[in-house]
Amino acid sequence: MKFTLITGASSGIGEAFARRLAADGHNLVLVARSEDKLHQLCDELMLKHKITAHYIAADLTEFEADKRLFEETERHGFEIDWLVNNAGFGSMGDFAGLELERELQMIDLNISALVALTHHYLPAMRARKSGVIVNVSSTASFQPIPYMATYAATKAFVTSFSEAVNEENRAYGITVTALCPGPTDTNFFAVANAVPFTARGVQTSEDVVENALKAVRAGKAVKVSGFRNYIGSVLGTLAPDALVTRTIGSFLRPKLKKKV
Ligand SMILES: NC(=O)c1ccc[n+]([C@@H]2O[C@H](COP(=O)([O-])OP(=O)(O)OC[C@H]3O[C@@H](n4cnc5c(N)ncnc54)[C@H](OP(=O)(O)O)[C@@H]3O)[C@@H](O)[C@H]2O)c1
Repeated sequence: MKFTLITGASSGIGEAFARRLAADGHNLVLVARSEDKLHQLCDELMLKHKITAHYIAADLTEFEADKRLFEETERHGFEIDWLVNNAGFGSMGDFAGLELERELQMIDLNISALVALTHHYLPAMRARKSGVIVNVSSTASFQPIPYMATYAATKAFVTSFSEAVNEENRAYGITVTALCPGPTDTNFFAVANAVPFTARGVQTSEDVVENALKAVRAGKAVKVSGFRNYIGSVLGTLAPDALVTRTIGSFLRPKLKKKV
C-alpha cells in the first residue's frame, strides 16, 4: 500500500500537508516528537477521509533516528511514494551567544535527517520509477542572514541539495522539490525566539501547501511560495551578499538589543 511520509506533522506546515493530502486520499505516516498530537490527527483524518494513517513519534535529532524510522516503515511494508521532509526549526540571535548544542541540533534536523531520509527512500522510488520528495527549505536559503546565521545556512543547503538530487532523479520519474516559504503563521517564530520583523505578507500554512502541490504537479525543483516572497528571493540572489548582510544586520541589530 502506498503512503506519504511527513516529518514535523504535529503542527504548522507539516500538519497542513497532512490535512490536505489526506483530503486528496493519501495514506499517511506522520512523524514528530508530540505523540498525542499525532495520535489525535491520525484518528481525525482516518475518520474524516477514510484513509489509513499511522504515526511514529521520533526525535529526528537523535542518533540513528532516521534509520529506526526507515526500518519501522519497512517492517510495516509501507511503500513510501511521497516523502515530505518538513521538520525543522530556527534560532535568532548573535551567533556567539546562542547555545551551541541547539545550533548543532538544528543542523542535525534541518540537514542530516533530511539527507538521510531522502537517501533511505530514494532507491525504492527509483525501482518503482515514481516518487515525490518535498524538502521544506525557506526564502532564508537565498542569502546569508545575520542573527539567523545557522538557520539560513541550513536552508541554503536544503535548496542546493534538492535541486541537484532532482536532476539526478528526473529520469526515474521522481521529482524533488525545494519548497521555499517566506514568513508563515506557525509556531516557528516562537520556537526560534525571534523578534517580530515582518507583519506584511505572512502566509498561512494552507497557502504554502497549495503552492507546494502546484509546484509538484509542474515538476519544479524550487518553489518560492507567494509572489512577494518570490521578488524578495530574486533580490536576495541578485544583490551582492555584502550589501544584503549589512542591510539585514542593521535592521535586526537594534531590535535584538531592545529585546535583551
Ligand atoms: N513558519 C515560517 O515562517 C517558515 C518559513 C520558511 C520555512 N519554514 C520551515 O517550515 C518547516 C516547518 O516549520 P513550521 O513553520 O511549520 O514550524 P512549527 O509549527 O514549529 O513546526 C515544526 C514541526 O517540526 C517538528 N519537529 C521539531 N523538532 C523536531 C525533532 N527534533 N524531531 C522531529 N520533529 C521535530 C515539530 O513537532 P514536535 O515539536 O512535535 O516534534 C513540528 O511538527 C521547517 O522546516 C521550517 O524551517 C517555516
